[in-house]
Amino acid sequence: MSGHQPVMMQEVLDALSPRAGQVIVDGTFGGGGYTHAILAAAPCQVIGLDRDKDAVARGMALAAQMPDRFTMVETKFSQLAALGRPFDAVVLDIGVSSFQIDQAERGFSFMQDGPLDMRMGTDGPSAADVIAQLSEAELSRLFHFYGEEREARRIARAIATDRLITPYLRTSELAGVVSRVIGHKHKDHIHPATRVFQALRIYVNDEIGELEMALTAAEEKLPEGGRLVVVTFHSLEDRVVKIFFNERSKEVTGSRHTPRKNGPAPSFSLIHKKVVRASDREIAQNPRSRSAKLRAAIRTSAPALPSHVTGLSGVPPLTQIKRVA
Ligand SMILES: C[S@@+](CC[C@H](N)C(=O)[O-])C[C@H]1O[C@@H](n2cnc3c(N)ncnc32)[C@H](O)[C@@H]1O
Repeated sequence: MSGHQPVMMQEVLDALSPRAGQVIVDGTFGGGGYTHAILAAAPCQVIGLDRDKDAVARGMALAAQMPDRFTMVETKFSQLAALGRPFDAVVLDIGVSSFQIDQAERGFSFMQDGPLDMRMGTDGPSAADVIAQLSEAELSRLFHFYGEEREARRIARAIATDRLITPYLRTSELAGVVSRVIGHKHKDHIHPATRVFQALRIYVNDEIGELEMALTAAEEKLPEGGRLVVVTFHSLEDRVVKIFFNERSKEVTGSRHTPRKNGPAPSFSLIHKKVVRASDREIAQNPRSRSAKLRAAIRTSAPALPSHVTGLSGVPPLTQIKRVA
């Protein structure tokens, strides 16, 4: 099993700019790449969060080595507000780690056969439950919205027909039906099942809902001057972060033509005018960084806005799926 190569490490450090005595939350500990870099950059403390048991075990091992500087907590990052300790900055590196992808038995990979699971934590329905229980129309919406898959309808129809005969329980079975339906049509030369697997992973782990909740929790808990740094790999997730930061950093005032209108004072000020992307050099060394986008902001003194962010992604809600077996 290979390790996880963190993306945009220097850009993340620059945006966080950790200082002596600060407490920084690494909300997606993973392989601990960001945490190690933060701990090396300043004599600060880090609290690592992860919902994945293997990541938590790696974090616990680090905590045993440096108990005064690092604490590991097994939790979802949406629960940030419940940490019970003040913190000065939060970094989120949204998505899966190479550790998770590389373990066939976790069911994230269409390249290796494994159970159709895809859960980062241990709770909730698996990808097999979702494939078994969503209607054909809902599967199509899932692949369309979360996977941006152009052949969503045809794939959903094939799955809905085939599952009447045998359930989809293995990653190879799902990858097989997608390849059969769309062949090797993706002009961007990715594996035909890439988008369907990505869509399922995002849905199974409620990745959009988790992100929305974490952003509002950070807004609620960060002190004035506190920093929030988010790295995403998917356009829907970036959209959520972009809309949140834009909304929270805008001064609402009237124009020449409309009466003056004072909206709430901005609760964040943006660190960068534009989204930050990996350098060509990093992309050449680590192709995964090609789709990474970093956005970061500093908390102002203004009160947090009422938390109404759910729905930022614009994806219509799907039926709630129950865990079977
Ligand atoms: C891309 S990896 C992070 C890699 C990390 N930055 C590093 O340098 O090694 C994402 C990690 O976040 C975790 N994760 C994803 N969603 C989560 C959530 N909602 N709550 C807590 N952890 C989550 C995953 O289990 C995974 O370990």
